[in-house]
This record gives sequence, C-alpha cells and structure tokens, in this order.
Amino acid sequence: MYVPETFWASLERAKRRPGEIDRETILSLMEGSVNIVARDALFQAADELRHRYMGDEVHLRGIIEFSNNCVRNCHYCGLRAANTGLPRYRMSSDEIVATAERAARLGFGTVVLQSGEDPVWDAPALAEVVHKIKRRTGLAITLSVGDRSREDYALWREAGADRYLLKHETADPELFRRLRPGTTLAGRLTALRHLRELGYQVGSGNIVGLPGQTLSSLADDVALLQELDVEMAGIGPFIPHPQTPLAAASPGAVDLTLRVLAVTRLAVPWAHLPATTALGTIDPEGRQKALRCGANVVMPNVGPTEYRPLYQIYPGKICLSEMAEKCLSCLGRMVQTLGRTIGQGPGDSPKPRFQQRDNG
Ligand code: 5AD
Ligand code: SF4
Ligand code: FES
Repeated sequence: MYVPETFWASLERAKRRPGEIDRETILSLMEGSVNIVARDALFQAADELRHRYMGDEVHLRGIIEFSNNCVRNCHYCGLRAANTGLPRYRMSSDEIVATAERAARLGFGTVVLQSGEDPVWDAPALAEVVHKIKRRTGLAITLSVGDRSREDYALWREAGADRYLLKHETADPELFRRLRPGTTLAGRLTALRHLRELGYQVGSGNIVGLPGQTLSSLADDVALLQELDVEMAGIGPFIPHPQTPLAAASPGAVDLTLRVLAVTRLAVPWAHLPATTALGTIDPEGRQKALRCGANVVMPNVGPTEYRPLYQIYPGKICLSEMAEKCLSCLGRMVQTLGRTIGQGPGDSPKPRFQQRDNG
C-alpha cells in the first residue's frame, strides 16, 4: 500500500519539533499510519521520544476505586445511574486510608482515588481522606472523581492532592453532548482550567473508537491535549457495555488506539501516558504494545478484590481477582521483558515546576 509523501514529511516535522505539532500534521500522521510501514515508523518515533523525555522507568500508580455510585448517564459507561442492575458500593474513609497504607507498604509511589460522580462523598469528607493518606504515607495522590466546583478542587488541593485526572473523553462538542447527557465539552474545559490554576498536575485523555467518532475528531483530541499541555493523558479503546445504550456498538480497534497513543507522545512528549487497562482488556498484549509506542505508566488496581467486579465501567476488565502483589510481580516481569525498570518514588511530571518538592 502506498504511503503518501505527506506522511513522511509530517513525521519529520513532528520529530524535529515535538510538542509543537499543528493539527494538519497530527491528522496526516493518523491517516498515513494505516499503512503498516508508516505505522512502524510512527511507533518507533514515539518510543524514542518516550525514552528521551521520560526515560526507561515504567511508573506504577495504584488505583483505589472507592465508589461505583454515579449521578451521570454517559451512554458508554456501565456505572451510569440508569444501570439499576448494578449493585452499588461505597468504601468507608477507614477502608480507603487502610488501602492506601497497604499500597505504600507494597512500594507504590502514587495512589489514584477514583469514583463515579458521587455527591455523597462531599468535598470536606474526601479532603479528610486525602489529608490522612498524605500525613500517614507521604504518597503522591491523584484524584479522579469527575466534574466538581472550583471550591471543591481547591479544598482537595489544600488537603494534599497533587494530581487530578479528568478526561475530556472526546473533543467533538456534538458527540460529547450526545454521549454525556446534561454536560458539555465547554464545561469540562472550564473544570480543566480550574485544576490548572490550582496547581494540580493535570491529566486528561480520550476514548478511541466511540460510535460516530472520526479520524479528524481524534486529531482534535490530540491537538487539545497539546493545547492543554497536560502532565498525563489516558488513551483507551471504547469497549461496549451490555447494560448501556451503546451495547450493540463495535469496540474501538487496538491498532487505532495505539496510533492515537503514539501521535500523543509526539504532541505531549513530557506527559505521563498510561498503557490503559482497557487496552489490556481487548488485547492480552495490549499494555505491552502500548509501552512500546509511547506509554510509560501502568495503573494496577490495589483496592479490595470484593468490589472490583462492581466497578464495571466496561465488561471483561482484567485483574479482577488478582491481589496487588500478584499484579506487581506480573508487571515486574512485563517491564523486565521490555528492557525497562519499575519507577521509584512519586513519579511526578518531569516539568521543572513540578520537580520542586523533595522526591526522596
Ligand atoms: N469503554 C472504555 N472506556 C470507558 N470509560 C467509560 N466507559 C468506557 C467504555 N465503555 C472510561 C472513560 C472514563 C473512565 C472512567 O473510563 O474515559 O473517563
Ligand atoms: Fe459516571 Fe464517569 Fe461513567 Fe460517566 S464515565 S457514567 S461520569 S463514572
Ligand atoms: Fe494483574 Fe498481570 S497486571 S495479573
């Protein structure tokens, strides 16, 4: 198959000026990499940039999914409020803190506290959990609890939260509005701006392969991540969930997800990019593949195994019954096979302004 000359010119341009790629170049890289020779060249460029900007350490972030309650009704997600067949749980403060302490003992440098949009967890209650974890473990703390007010974000930041993950999900405003009823892309961008102003290390990202999504809109996703200058970006494939309006839709393709991930590495070379669990779910080698074309982070679950089957964003999620110890040794072998090492310490963004604190 013929690779358009524009692809090679785009790749050269992107390699010369990573982090400063215009939208046409991003789109040309995505389109051209449908060809296997072009794709391999793109993946190699992404792997080299990952090595140059982020090094060979693979950072592990321990996820604690502390509540599967959600007031939203995103069309793609199994936690949507309308999914009344799903039993709901909410971990207690003590359970969350104890889990974080266990993660610290296991050697994690970061815990990610994630939930659906659950107003029962009000800002002061979550702030107290953040504060306790910080005081008792010194771990880096990432929050991922959705759209909240600037005041809530500020309270958590003061309590000791370092990072916040808020995926923009899709940069297509019409698709966003349709798939996330009652919310807008503009509102999401406002929340991301608040997080930025408050000094969080900001993570965003998008789903790949949503029904109605085009390559052009995926190019917008990557251009947006570059514009937001994110410290992290999660790029994962869409996986249809049977109890959602998108039950009959096709899943996102592994190959397309990897191409978007690789182009993202060229667009935000200094960002932490996870090899997502969703990618590991649709392809047994998905995370290894991601780690070879730009990714440098893995996020194993450290929460109690009894709750995990209930955090059913999408079906078939891997590592539902594995204790954190098992995933750690599995990931240790994976990383070693790739000729890389497990990251030590908090694994902050390498940007100078986030390297001020004592990382010891
Ligand atoms: N497939 C893949 N990812 C999904 N998410 C939600 N539903 C799905 C799905 N069906 C992702 C979204 C969200 C995160 C909690 O999970 O990106 O940010
Ligand atoms: Fe709730 Fe997030 Fe799922 Fe939407 S994607 S239904 S906000 S948990
Ligand atoms: Fe959980 Fe491999 S990462 S078993």
